[in-house]
Order: sequence, then C-alpha cells, then structure tokens
Amino acid sequence: MKHLVTLKDWDCDTIRSLLDRAADIKKEPSRYRDAMRYRVLVMIFEKPSLRTRVSFEVGAVQMGGYAIYYDMSTSPLGAGKENIADTVRVLSRYADIIMARLFEHAKLEEMVRYSTIPVINGLTDFSHPCQVLGDLLTIRDIKGRLQGLTLAYFGDANNNVTHSLLFACPKMGMNIRIACPGKPRYMPQPAVLEEARKTAEHNGVSVEILHDAVSAARGADIVYTDSWMSYHIPAEELEARIGDLKPFQVNAAVMEQADSDAIFMNCLPALRGYEQTAEVIDGAQSVVFDQAENRLHIQKAIMLYLLEHASRNTSAA
Ligand code: CP
Ligand code: NVA
Repeated sequence: MKHLVTLKDWDCDTIRSLLDRAADIKKEPSRYRDAMRYRVLVMIFEKPSLRTRVSFEVGAVQMGGYAIYYDMSTSPLGAGKENIADTVRVLSRYADIIMARLFEHAKLEEMVRYSTIPVINGLTDFSHPCQVLGDLLTIRDIKGRLQGLTLAYFGDANNNVTHSLLFACPKMGMNIRIACPGKPRYMPQPAVLEEARKTAEHNGVSVEILHDAVSAARGADIVYTDSWMSYHIPAEELEARIGDLKPFQVNAAVMEQADSDAIFMNCLPALRGYEQTAEVIDGAQSVVFDQAENRLHIQKAIMLYLLEHASRNTSAA
C-alpha cells in the first residue's frame, strides 16, 4: 500500500504521471465525477488551514466522494485520552483514506505505521508534499516543462515547503538555489540537503545555498518564498525573525535580477511587507492563485492514485 509522506519516497516517473493525470482532471473534471464514488476521506487537522482543508474537501465531493473534517483539538487523541495507533486503526475501519495536518512529522509516520488505509501528509513541520506537487503542476502549465529550469527560494529555509522543494526539484531535473540567513535555525535540515545534492549530482543539476538574495535571484525562472512565521513558530519570535529575514524579502530589486519571464510563487498564506512586497505578490509575474487552484487538481490525482494502490476497498460499492 502507498502513502504520501514525503517526496523523497516518490520517484520521477510517478510524479510525472501524477502531473499528467492532474492536468487531465483539470481539463475535463466532469470525466472524474464518479471516480471517488462512495469513498470517504477523513481530514485530521492539528493546525489552521484554508487551502488544504477546502481543496481536499471540494476535491472529494467533486469526484463523488465524501470528506469529514476532524479537528484534532476535539478528538480523544487531542485530549490525550487516546493514542495515535488506536485512532488510526479505528479510522481505518470507517474510512477509505486519511489526510492529516500535524505539527510533528514523526506522528504522521506513526499514523502510517498503524493505518490500513492510505495516509496523505497535508503538512507537517518537516514537509508539505501536496503543496509542492501542485507547484510542479503550476510551473509545468506555465513554462511547458520542468527540466532545466532554475527555482530560487528566499527566506526561512528550515521549512516544510523548502524541504519538499529540495526533494522534488533535483528529481525533476530542476536546479534549486536557496537564499537564507547563515544561522542554522534558518537552514534546511542537513539530511534533506544531502539527499537533494545526491539526486542533483545524479541528474546533472545543481543545489546551491547562498546568503545573498540578489545573487540568488540572478537569471532564475521561478522566484519562490514562504511565510517567515510558519504555523508552528511561536508569535514571540516575530521581531527577531523580521530582523534576520528582511534581507531575504522578495521585492522589486530581487525580481529585477530574475529572468524577464520569471514567475513569482508563494504557497500562501502570505503577508505583504514581510516575505514579499505587495507590488510583487500583486504584480504581473505572480502566479499565487494558480498555485492555490492547482492544489485542487493535484490532490484529486493523489487521492485516486493512492486509492488504486490501497490494499483494501472498504466502502467501495
Ligand atoms: N498552502 C497551504 O497549505 O495553505 P493552507 O495552510 O491554507 O492549507
Ligand atoms: N511553511 C508554512 C506553509 C503554510 C502552507 C507553514 O508551515 O505554516
């Protein structure tokens, strides 16, 4: 049985066929209106969400399935009355697929160990694979290819989205540059970097870490940033983070260095004046709402792929 835990586990061909299917779903959604008929998705949330919550629910409903929003704070698990193993073993008896958004990645891995239905990572502190698969769809839609492109990421790089980009870009034949402060707390986790470098070497592309935004942007095809205050970062860190991360803000001067056809991406939620200026996110090069839309299409493809590889079909008619 397959799960979506991190993009480290998914090979280039699997990702490519997933993108192809998502593109087909996007073009002709009505062809998939019964693809999830009688299938039930349970969505466990320990953190806030707009895009993940709504796009998964809409995706399941548009394909004839049903989605249950399960707020972890109202569960026996959240109240400390039940453990993860029992929770997912019970859910496995009711539903067909689980999507979970959690703080600790290890807890998602624990869910996977005990679940007898597919589990999708809807974001942990460590990785956000659904986001980056949707982003690859956005990039391929706009640029017509992935191979040979250079993506430059700016800001907090000890970050779930950055880690997923580091797993995915070299695998898909893309160069990746990270522009972040030199302090270890803003750097990608060393094991992720090592994996990215190994894949990059194998595929003849590059992984670079730079501590200067202007040089990182030079000639880039994609300029990407994410929140300086991810959901798991305590509010009291705000002032210190603004001080450390301001030199890595995506502004007009940074965009000026990128390729003239460069696109600007942010997984959202975004704060204008922080990780990017308003003129960048609201400007002509910004594709942030295409990114948000593509979460819907890619997640439909992810759910169908995992359901097809599930070891048991609980509520299938
Ligand atoms: N990009 C993303 O995952 O957004 P939400 O936190 O709103 O789900
Ligand atoms: N890095 C961000 C992504 C939000 C979708 C966070 O974890 O909050």
